[in-house]
Amino acid sequence: MFAVLAFCLVAFVAAQTPRPCTTPPQWESNIFDHNQQQKFTVRGRLSYDAAYRRERMVEEVIIGSTDDAFDVIALFDSNTEYVYDFKHHNCSRRKIDRRWRDFGIRPDATSFGEAYIGSSAAPGLGLLVTLWGGNHTTPSNDTVRTFGTWTMRGCLPVRHISHSAQYGRTETSFFDITAGISDPNVFIPRRECLTEKEYAMRDILFGTPTKIEKK
Ligand SMILES: *[C@@H]1O[C@H](CO)[C@@H](O)[C@H](O)[C@H]1NC(C)=O
Ligand SMILES: *[C@@H]1O[C@H](CO)[C@@H](O)[C@H](O)[C@H]1NC(C)=O
Ligand SMILES: *[C@@H]1O[C@H](CO)[C@@H](O)[C@H](O)[C@H]1NC(C)=O
Repeated sequence: MFAVLAFCLVAFVAAQTPRPCTTPPQWESNIFDHNQQQKFTVRGRLSYDAAYRRERMVEEVIIGSTDDAFDVIALFDSNTEYVYDFKHHNCSRRKIDRRWRDFGIRPDATSFGEAYIGSSAAPGLGLLVTLWGGNHTTPSNDTVRTFGTWTMRGCLPVRHISHSAQYGRTETSFFDITAGISDPNVFIPRRECLTEKEYAMRDILFGTPTKIEKK
């Protein structure tokens, strides 16, 4: 009798275990990024495309007391980023030395439940979020601990904290997310970043591949 009851209880608990929701693969957001170890703060607008692992950030970077502004297009599948410097009006092309940041919930993450940011006392006072965390090891053998909050409706990132032995603690906050990529040319580097020949072929080289249907 007790065994049956215990079994039912386990089954009930298992059924209740929340599963990670799926964050949309393409969106744009204002972000605020702070890294403690490297002492930098980045504030800007991010265009995020997890389908093709690329991002564009028009950003202000504050490192100590210096304040710079960049327009960065990072194409992780070709391991190249184009960094345009607003102060000097120049652009450089370089290999990407960081890993792609996926702002979805990792499938192996542990649920820390749900909570309201703000208050649940009256409609409009709060935002219901789902909390997830976990540990994983990257292919370069870096141990990373992550903790994040996503909206219950829509599964949009709200805040993401990662702590790694290699890069230290990074905290990213997201505001004013909009669905999809507003400008299809957003991942095409500026003219200053390309050779004459590349610029002429920019749509072929940098345009959205047609492997998925556009919504
Ligand atoms: C632009 O030029 C300045 C001054 O020569 C240099 O310090 C900076 O690194 C350059 N920026 C880029 C993105 O190439
Ligand atoms: C992740 O690892 C840390 C340190 O080893 C541990 O304290 C924490 O409980 C782990 N978190 C999860 C969700 O496994
Ligand atoms: C990965 O890192 C751990 C400690 O951080 C170390 O013990 C292990 O040997 C490393 N493995 C590889 C393949 O480098």
